[in-house]
Amino acid sequence: MNRQTQREIRTITVLGAGTMGRGIAHVAAGGGYETCLFDISGDALEQARSAIFGNFERGVELGKVDPTVAQRAGELLDFQQDLSSAVSQADLIIEAVPESMELKVEIFQSAVQSAPEHVLLASNTSALSITEMAGALDRPERFAGMHFFNPVHIMRLVELVQGLETDKATLLALREVAETMGKEVVEVKESPGFVTSRINALIGNEAFRMLQEGVATASDIDKALKLGLNHPMGPFEMVDLVGLDVRLSVLQRLSQSLGELYRPNNLFLQYVRAGRLGKKVGRGVYAYDDSGKRID
Ligand SMILES: NC(=O)c1ccc[n+]([C@@H]2O[C@H](COP(=O)([O-])OP(=O)(O)OC[C@H]3O[C@@H](n4cnc5c(N)ncnc54)[C@H](O)[C@@H]3O)[C@@H](O)[C@H]2O)c1
Repeated sequence: MNRQTQREIRTITVLGAGTMGRGIAHVAAGGGYETCLFDISGDALEQARSAIFGNFERGVELGKVDPTVAQRAGELLDFQQDLSSAVSQADLIIEAVPESMELKVEIFQSAVQSAPEHVLLASNTSALSITEMAGALDRPERFAGMHFFNPVHIMRLVELVQGLETDKATLLALREVAETMGKEVVEVKESPGFVTSRINALIGNEAFRMLQEGVATASDIDKALKLGLNHPMGPFEMVDLVGLDVRLSVLQRLSQSLGELYRPNNLFLQYVRAGRLGKKVGRGVYAYDDSGKRID
């Protein structure tokens, strides 16, 4: 097969072994791909290794993962702290380093120097522009977004994000990869917040507006959405989990492009100013004990 046009994926390298990168490596190996997980931090790689193997083990114990798949995945996984070795065999590189355009572009630029010519590139960015990232590289048609959800080995969706120049063959290849990882795919043209963050941020903001107006208590608003609309979590449970500071940055970004509806609600801003950032600090809309259990 021509190396320039090859779209068959056998080997995947994941850049960044944090929350998302380790999950992506888990589902890549679980899907049968030779998988290399790269991080600059040895500690992150060690934590990733034990989290991935632990999750496979739990899956097997619960009867949700076939033991032979788990064993094979263990054999397919490699952990690397050297970027050029990590990408030297990669047919696809999926990036999951922190959310900074500068950092992401820099790591892609370094990675492609040691990767095979035919390599495809995907970013797991939550909100940065795929077109801008691709534009900084010499192969914009082979670049797309693959937006996974946390925890990756449990959540079923991947938003496949098409930049201005992403070609059809790249989208097809990445769709097949995501499906082989056991995911459902929705294709999204690059736009602020894709589908999920755009709708979720709006619901969350509106929920705070209702709380501020005294329409109902927080727990009743959550209960209404869970029992009346079949949402698995209420908007306040969700924002406490995501972090109010993280949600604030999403709303600020979306309000710049999508306007007034996304302007962060005043009560919500007060919670952020008060340091009520969610479960991770023990207090958000609700209060939590040290084990993360709700106590109000
Ligand atoms: N956490 C989520 O729920 C979530 C969901 C969807 C998308 N995302 C996106 O995924 C990306 C990663 O988020 P995360 O939550 O996994 O972050 P994280 O902070 O948990 O992990 C980032 C990892 O990248 C590593 N890293 C930093 N600089 C690096 C470099 N130069 N080279 C290699 N590794 C480097 C860090 O050591 C760390 O292990 C971000 O773009 C984020 O917006 C996050």
